Amino acid sequence: MITIRKELFEDIDAIRQINEEAFGQSLEADIVDALRVDCVEFLSFVAEVDGKVVGYILFTPVLIETDGEGIEGAGLAPMAVLPEYQRQGVGSMLVEEGLRFLQETGCPFVVVLGHAHYYPRFGFEPASRYDIRSEWAVPDDSFMIMIFDESQFSGISGVARYRPEFSE
Ligand SMILES: CC(C)(COP(=O)(O)OP(=O)(O)OC[C@H]1O[C@@H](n2cnc3c(N)ncnc32)[C@H](O)[C@@H]1OP(=O)(O)O)[C@@H](O)C(=O)NCCC(=O)NCCS
Repeated sequence: MITIRKELFEDIDAIRQINEEAFGQSLEADIVDALRVDCVEFLSFVAEVDGKVVGYILFTPVLIETDGEGIEGAGLAPMAVLPEYQRQGVGSMLVEEGLRFLQETGCPFVVVLGHAHYYPRFGFEPASRYDIRSEWAVPDDSFMIMIFDESQFSGISGVARYRPEFSE
């Protein structure tokens, strides 16, 4: 059985290992550890299968800069599932639980930079449809957005900025 719950202190080593194994490098694990220290709005969930932590998802603040004021939502990154547990629905449950939580708590939007084949199934669409761009040079269809509150989006367009830890 797959269970999704918030990250706890005792999950930290397992989360590092999941990110390292899923991505095959330590970059994403390092970013997560740096954000855990400094990012107050750090929102993360783990997936457990039979009591073992096998999947991870993180949401951190993203600011869309517009003329005048900006609008703050969330960015999904990174997400990872241990290779031997992939393609069993674990990643989907992590995304769905994270989005449900963010919508319920009033977050206006979520952006993701990722596989254009994977994220549209959850309702993500290319951010370029709203004239919202990534701060990095990435393929148009890989930078996606889910807008929960359209009313806050009138006149909003511009560059979506993640926490600086993602660029360092
Ligand atoms: C992406 C990831 C988190 C998905 O987790 P998961 O538990 O396998 O996901 P689910 O079982 O819910 O969904 C499986 C789907 O993901 C798709 N998928 C997995 N990896 C993919 C990839 N690299 N590119 C495109 N699609 C991918 C599969 O094709 C499958 O799609 P299907 O249902 O049409 O066959 C996992 O594959 C992973 O950890 N990958 C390595 C790290 C990574 O790339 N993270 C995402 C960064 S945006």
